[in-house]
Amino acid sequence: MKNYLRGKKILVTGGTGFIGSALVKGLLAAGAEIRSLDNDSRGLRTLERAQNDVERITGDIRDPDVVRKAVRGMECIYHLAYINGTEFFYDRPELVLEVAVKGMMNVLDACVAENVKDLLLVSSSEVYQLPPVIPTSETTPLTVPDVLNPRFSYGGGKIISELLAVNYGRKFFDRTLIVRPHNVYGPNMGGEHVIPQFVFRMKECSTQQPDGALTFNIQGTGEETRAFIYIDDFVRALLHVIEHGEHLDIYHIGTDREVSIRELAHLVAKSCGREISIAPGQRLAGSTPRRCPDIQKLRRLGFEPAVSLEEGVQRTATWYLQNTID
Ligand SMILES: NC(=O)c1ccc[n+]([C@@H]2O[C@H](COP(=O)([O-])OP(=O)(O)OC[C@H]3O[C@@H](n4cnc5c(N)ncnc54)[C@H](O)[C@@H]3O)[C@@H](O)[C@H]2O)c1
Repeated sequence: MKNYLRGKKILVTGGTGFIGSALVKGLLAAGAEIRSLDNDSRGLRTLERAQNDVERITGDIRDPDVVRKAVRGMECIYHLAYINGTEFFYDRPELVLEVAVKGMMNVLDACVAENVKDLLLVSSSEVYQLPPVIPTSETTPLTVPDVLNPRFSYGGGKIISELLAVNYGRKFFDRTLIVRPHNVYGPNMGGEHVIPQFVFRMKECSTQQPDGALTFNIQGTGEETRAFIYIDDFVRALLHVIEHGEHLDIYHIGTDREVSIRELAHLVAKSCGREISIAPGQRLAGSTPRRCPDIQKLRRLGFEPAVSLEEGVQRTATWYLQNTID
């Protein structure tokens, strides 16, 4: 890996985000030269805190001139810039799709114009929406179950991005890779995801109910499932794909430990030093009842997750208990 990436000039779009900044650090450690393009709309600012040796461009992925300049002189583009966070899918679906489609087209046009032939697209597990088989393999059909539900702006944008990447990839690129992350988590991941939200609410409930088991409200029955991958494992897995991945191939990045939201809530509670009694609620329209990837392809590249869910949740909850986010 060190040899493959040493001295490679790589543009990471979305480079100051949660995954982008962790990826940048992993790439730098492997000897790559990194440029980042991000409009800093998430405001996580993890990158500037950690790295001075990254060339940072602050700009919008929807602007073709900005993207063209960012791509110029690079050998590889790793495309992560996207609108993330469930509340945005419901509130700003038109923006989610605009960033998805214009962003992908701008990246492809700039690569063709600047003769860059190595592209990695970070897609998502949400391209399956309601996976018919669990664990889900990469060959499972991608679906938009209801065009009228704004929730699917996110997954729909990823499906369009994949189609564009593959079909431009076939014609103009030496190597185009797609990865589909499944529920990446860790410190400073933003506030819109399930684990930080559980920690925030656990804190709030603890003030209101200082003793005994906390009554803890959740969306849905708690029997819904997900499989979570800790950010350090995610970056290691992605580096495996970058080194060994085949042109026009698609790889899940995740773990195959399927966990119920009920079990997750108990793990977060334990990390916060409390016991809870779960009060089930309504599930949001369009949310997926079960999700867990088949990761055989990733394993064949030599990857094995190393951080257990217990350990990862403990680290993440501790971070959110000790830090405030904007
Ligand atoms: N976190 C997960 O569990 C997960 C799961 C599946 C897929 N993904 C994908 O991984 C990628 C990174 O996700 P993340 O969790 O780090 O989220 P993130 O929101 O932290 O990162 C996305 C970055 O894109 C930037 N961005 C948004 N709009 C932009 C624009 N118009 N111009 C330039 N930059 C813009 C944001 O500022 C942010 O830094 C995304 O493509 C996301 O869809 C993440």
